Amino acid sequence: MNFEPPKLRIPLCRPSMGGNESAYLEQCVRDNWVSSAGPFVERFERDIAAYLGVDHAVALVNGTAALHLALIVAGVRPGDAVVTSTLTFVATANAIRHAGAWPIFVDADLETWQIDAARTAEFLVDRCERHGNDWIDSGSGRRIGAVLPVHILGHPADLDPILEAARELGVPVIEDATESLGGRYKGQPAGALGDAACLSFNGNKLITCGGGGMLVTNRADWARLARHLSTQAKLPGVELIHDEVGFNYRLTNIQAAVGCAQLETIDERLAAKRRIASFYRELCAERPELVFMPEASWAESACWMSTVLVNTEHDGRNRHTVMACLADQGIETRPLWQPLHLSPAHRGCGFLGGEVASELHQKAVCLPSSCDLREEDFARLRSAIFAGLDDVPGPG
Ligand SMILES: Cc1ncc(COP(=O)(O)O)c(C=O)c1O
Repeated sequence: MNFEPPKLRIPLCRPSMGGNESAYLEQCVRDNWVSSAGPFVERFERDIAAYLGVDHAVALVNGTAALHLALIVAGVRPGDAVVTSTLTFVATANAIRHAGAWPIFVDADLETWQIDAARTAEFLVDRCERHGNDWIDSGSGRRIGAVLPVHILGHPADLDPILEAARELGVPVIEDATESLGGRYKGQPAGALGDAACLSFNGNKLITCGGGGMLVTNRADWARLARHLSTQAKLPGVELIHDEVGFNYRLTNIQAAVGCAQLETIDERLAAKRRIASFYRELCAERPELVFMPEASWAESACWMSTVLVNTEHDGRNRHTVMACLADQGIETRPLWQPLHLSPAHRGCGFLGGEVASELHQKAVCLPSSCDLREEDFARLRSAIFAGLDDVPGPG
């Protein structure tokens, strides 16, 4: 029997409440606006559009649904190819497959850990051929339906080379900005630069609705179509007539109420994330085996999830042993995703690149990054990480 008191857990990235969430939820219940229509849904759309400086926002059930609808309204058709990051959460590629299209995965770039923008642009310009109004990948013969760069871990991808090449071809660019709300690319908000972008408000994101997503765009026609498709493509009027096969993808007023309250505190949240990143950056400066995730000179990362490389195989120590040691201390970490070109779920898709994403996957550890980390948590994290590297039992 173990009579030791349980160690307090430090989770990877938990939600934090404490603003107007309860008051707004009470308002939903009191006024009986609890489902997929209501004042908070409209306000949340207006507030997000204003925050990003875009014309339209459509509130949806989650980020995966937002990506799926974005691909459809951008004109992606079954059998198309969509060029996207290999180092991303599986939902990005799943949304492409839900649209009946096939990902062409692009390796990461060592300097940013984001999609290799030069390689993406080179592929579009040099390896695609024009057939009428379409551009065809000369390798697979598939039409290029869209480019879907992902801004991972809060840091923006290098969008300019991608936007320039895609615009030359007339191929739409959809940003997967689910992890980067609050980040900036060359001074512009991540999520405001492509033809459309998708956000997620699941529990571990900078702001959460419990679950939720948003499609943002300056294209009024795309926003209108997304809203229509998200509500089963019902035509206006009392008759139940549907002009397309739609989806039940609309966010509820209850979820939007939480989102509105969370968005009110976004600046404090971003400041907390930057403080957490500075803590880990300073800690890495003390240990040559640790490398903190990069921040490009043109980027302002939202620092959503602080991640380090454990650059050692010394004495059998590596990221697995560090993660195990932290787990023993009640500290939750996680690896980066298996690069999707290696995923059994997406076997057989195209891949452009080498080993960068795989190397990052082998060495990276995502560290606790909840906005409400306290000074005593930082102290615990520091000694547990050092103990993990030195392979000695940590304190307490
Ligand atoms: C990069 C990326 N894409 C897509 C998603 C999907 O968002 P959701 O979980 O809201 O469906 C997530 C979030 O989990 C994500 O991190």
